[in-house]
Amino acid sequence: MSPTALNPDEAKGHHDSFTLPAVRNGHGGFKAEEVHASAARAPEGGRFRVESENTTYEADGIRSRFVDRGAEVIRGEDGKYTVKKTETAYEFFTKSRVGKVGLLLVGLGGNNGTTTLATHLANKHNISWHTKSGVQTPNYIGSLVRASTVRLGTDSETGKDVHIPMGDMLPMVHPDDFVIGGWDISGMRMDKAMERAQVLDWDLQRQLGVYMKDIKPMPGIYYPDFIAANQADRADNLLPGSDKQAHLEHLRSDIRGFKATHDLDNLVVLWTANTERYAEIIPGVNDTADNLLAAIKASHDEVSPSTIFAVAAILEGVPFINGSPQNTFVPGCMELAERHQSFIGGDDFKSGQTKVKSVLAEFLVNAGIKPLSIASYNHLGNNDGKNLSSHAQFRSKEISKSSVVDDMVAANPILYKTAAQLTAKTGEVHKKGEHPDHIVVIKHVPAVGDSKRAIDEYYSELLMGGRNVMNIFNECEDSLLATPLIFDLAILAELLTRITYRQLPAPNAAETETETEFKPLYSVLSLLSFMLKAPLVKPGTDVVNSLNRQRNGLEAFLKACVGLEGSGDLMLNTRVW
Ligand SMILES: NC(=O)c1ccc[n+]([C@@H]2O[C@H](COP(=O)([O-])OP(=O)(O)OC[C@H]3O[C@@H](n4cnc5c(N)ncnc54)[C@H](O)[C@@H]3O)[C@@H](O)[C@H]2O)c1
Repeated sequence: MSPTALNPDEAKGHHDSFTLPAVRNGHGGFKAEEVHASAARAPEGGRFRVESENTTYEADGIRSRFVDRGAEVIRGEDGKYTVKKTETAYEFFTKSRVGKVGLLLVGLGGNNGTTTLATHLANKHNISWHTKSGVQTPNYIGSLVRASTVRLGTDSETGKDVHIPMGDMLPMVHPDDFVIGGWDISGMRMDKAMERAQVLDWDLQRQLGVYMKDIKPMPGIYYPDFIAANQADRADNLLPGSDKQAHLEHLRSDIRGFKATHDLDNLVVLWTANTERYAEIIPGVNDTADNLLAAIKASHDEVSPSTIFAVAAILEGVPFINGSPQNTFVPGCMELAERHQSFIGGDDFKSGQTKVKSVLAEFLVNAGIKPLSIASYNHLGNNDGKNLSSHAQFRSKEISKSSVVDDMVAANPILYKTAAQLTAKTGEVHKKGEHPDHIVVIKHVPAVGDSKRAIDEYYSELLMGGRNVMNIFNECEDSLLATPLIFDLAILAELLTRITYRQLPAPNAAETETETEFKPLYSVLSLLSFMLKAPLVKPGTDVVNSLNRQRNGLEAFLKACVGLEGSGDLMLNTRVW
């Protein structure tokens, strides 16, 4: 079997998702009686159809018209604002054929990599397993796309809200259907790597062994300077030499080969390998696309493995998502993605502590309460924790975790003085506004394994000088939180490659204004922000960290693509006579 053909059924030429190998019964495994709702498929032809002059269903896709309504604010000399409404009309086209989609993970043999593959296989083959609490069926709980719903509208008879799975809003790949492969610098067989990860129950591991034992990751690239020295002992599956251009070419041919071998229509590459140290941004080396390509040719020391993977994906025209905190997308890499209109997204999965923080900080600030300090402490015992026990790699994580409350704080000049206010008050030039004290500590405690402990203290100012202390103790089963995000990121990134748009003349525009050509979305997929700790956005635009705003933005976009407007929270019918 090729190192990346991922299940025995496929190797035998069978593609029936629910065919179980006979050997499994002999091991006492059994098929779940029913498929969990998060793994269920939408009815043939989709779950709904919009009847509106804004929406057309065509043979190969859905065409929708949408008016983006906003407000432009002009600040007068007297400090007062003038607000003008803005309207921009768009047409979207979403190709409805999903086709066969590949998912290539960098770090396939790690805790997240093995858990992603195992979850996919358990769902695809509908394998249940025994735990001390009873029989467990496979599912995709924790996935925004698979296990959360969107409010479609109100029932015409009862007036009650109607919700549907987010994954049924548009044609999206089902995670059971991914063809999963990847690279790892550790060449351990996938059944053994799953055992090493100590994430899943033994009875499930036992049944998955038959599917995973013949799979070995493709060799990775290892530049020891970028990850912790304590990772050296697992680096036994490497592309030879130190010629970075040769490594780039090799990875590109891996991507092409995987696509051809599995006859894929589309493919997503996702970094879930170790956290690297930050790459230094050096003028002439990684500051422009051309300099970066030249630096790779010259095997410059400051080009990281993750940047080489990203460049390979960009040049092959497949989306690349960075699930770790390091600055893979150096300016030259961003420019290269723009130049090739290739999609990128990042950085760092937002699975546990930061997700809660982005909700709690917003809750406090939006409730008019002033967080004075946020102190975060983590300990974890998995290989990620071991890697992060090295200072340079921890620093990448610290940076990615630290900016999560910035936009909420900046949005409230009543509670936090702006840079201009501080400058006016002290006479000293302040570049940054007032900010709560925010610290992050991470410690490696091997005994707790993948079960990370995140402890946060929120210390806030209340009415009339009062103080409030809130403590959160969050036990995050790290890889069980990150794996659904990997599916979400891959599903949504693939979907976004099938959506094109064009701007339409404004409703009252002069006749000379014509429709523009259809274009792909902008290269940086900020619509993936919900899943990411330090969302990458179009340069010069604001980062949104608020989890609610990120979700609303994504939901509104999916609705726009079927010609529906608004989140419906206005609920005007409940507020008028
Ligand atoms: N909840 C979470 O698990 C979570 C949340 C946010 C971010 N992350 C990030 O996701 C990443 C993966 O987490 P994990 O727990 O699976 O870690 P892990 O250490 O178990 O797995 C990482 C894998 O990457 C491999 N690797 C390292 N460098 C490589 C390279 N250049 N090419 C190919 N493979 C390489 C390692 O051998 C290892 O198997 C980490 O960077 C972590 O910080 C995880």
